[in-house]
Amino acid sequence: MSDFADLNPPARLLMGPGPINADPRVLRAMSTPLIGQFDPAMTGLMGETMALYREVFKTANRWTFLIDATARGGIEAALVSLIEPGDKVLIPVFGRFGHLLAEIVRRCDGEAIEIQAEWGTAFDPSTIEVALKKHQPKLLALCQGDTSTTICQPLADIGALARKYDALVYVDATASLGGNDLRADDWHLDIVTAGLQKCLAGPSGSAPLTLGPRAEAAIQRRRHVEQGIAGPNDVPGQGARIRSNYFDLAMLMDYWSEKRLNHHTEATTMLYGARECARILVAEGVDASVRRHRVAGDALAKGLVGMGLKLFGDQAHRMANVVGVYVPPEVVGDAVRRDLLVDFGIEIGTSFGPLHGKIWRIGTMGYNARKDCVLTTLAALESVLLANGAKIAAGQGVPAALAHFRTADAAARKAAE
Ligand SMILES: Cc1ncc(COP(=O)(O)O)c(C=O)c1O
Repeated sequence: MSDFADLNPPARLLMGPGPINADPRVLRAMSTPLIGQFDPAMTGLMGETMALYREVFKTANRWTFLIDATARGGIEAALVSLIEPGDKVLIPVFGRFGHLLAEIVRRCDGEAIEIQAEWGTAFDPSTIEVALKKHQPKLLALCQGDTSTTICQPLADIGALARKYDALVYVDATASLGGNDLRADDWHLDIVTAGLQKCLAGPSGSAPLTLGPRAEAAIQRRRHVEQGIAGPNDVPGQGARIRSNYFDLAMLMDYWSEKRLNHHTEATTMLYGARECARILVAEGVDASVRRHRVAGDALAKGLVGMGLKLFGDQAHRMANVVGVYVPPEVVGDAVRRDLLVDFGIEIGTSFGPLHGKIWRIGTMGYNARKDCVLTTLAALESVLLANGAKIAAGQGVPAALAHFRTADAAARKAAE
């Protein structure tokens, strides 16, 4: 007999910077029966998943599929497949996840050229252009939304700029896709990766990716199919062998193509979940989802300000789905987070690096980009802050947020008339 109890995690409202509570429909999809990976029913589902994610990424890219890994695996797949030793990669860093890109580039023996923006700000595209001109990199790699700072980098002009200087563009949209506008094709983004556990309303463990023809050409140059599955027509590419087998996008393209070339065993349950995330998002409408995130994020921000708290960062460039807020000096940030979790079952985020202990990050994303989640969080936070001796304006947070939701609802109704 096992001494271990059945799995019964505590009920939580996850209002941090991700993961969030998965949509129950996604969890339900993930409990459906397994089938073999070459079963026509399965390859059919893989094809549907590709089609759905084309809508999510706003792309016609044939190569739009899943990496069976957390979002970081999607980043690694993109970078290790593109970067050959010595390649120059320009990385505009405006938070922790920009540093992560640089770290992965270095592990690929690429030359990481970082430019820095103060945490809490975004880059002016002209700054990126100056660096592109100066360094002439093979690749420009940057985040759209860096959850560590809550800042969303405008990308609409970045792809065209990179083309002007003959660089490829990689975007980490893990934290932003589905909750902030992203148009892979219109913005000329060559390769974009994401994760499920933020605005896509799923659990972590699958990384949707899209890559366009320019990225495909660069990767196919490096195509070396592994021994044991290579056929007589699999002529090795001219470029250096991709240094990871698991994250080799050339082999993964074969795997997701009609060839169904064997690679790893598909993570079927994650595929079911990823497909359901995209199905729900596409049914709502990607633009409608972006609007829902913006309304919930703004309502939360208004509620926090109404309480007398100070927001962190350039609000004109804040991600729709995460708000940074300064910890009032009279309380201990971690004590407030602990009371919220223990007494109310609500999780909010701490912060990293230079912001550690200074701000909390509160997310409104995916399944939790909802009025009830925002209002419950504000009410609980007010109560915990007062109990911890914070000097805030009692009774002001929830009404400010509610007023914002009402105004947004009225504007949406008017627009629909
Ligand atoms: C912008 C960004 N990139 C990458 C990651 C890493 O994702 P994962 O933890 O799923 O590997 C995160 C996670 O928070 C993120 O916010």
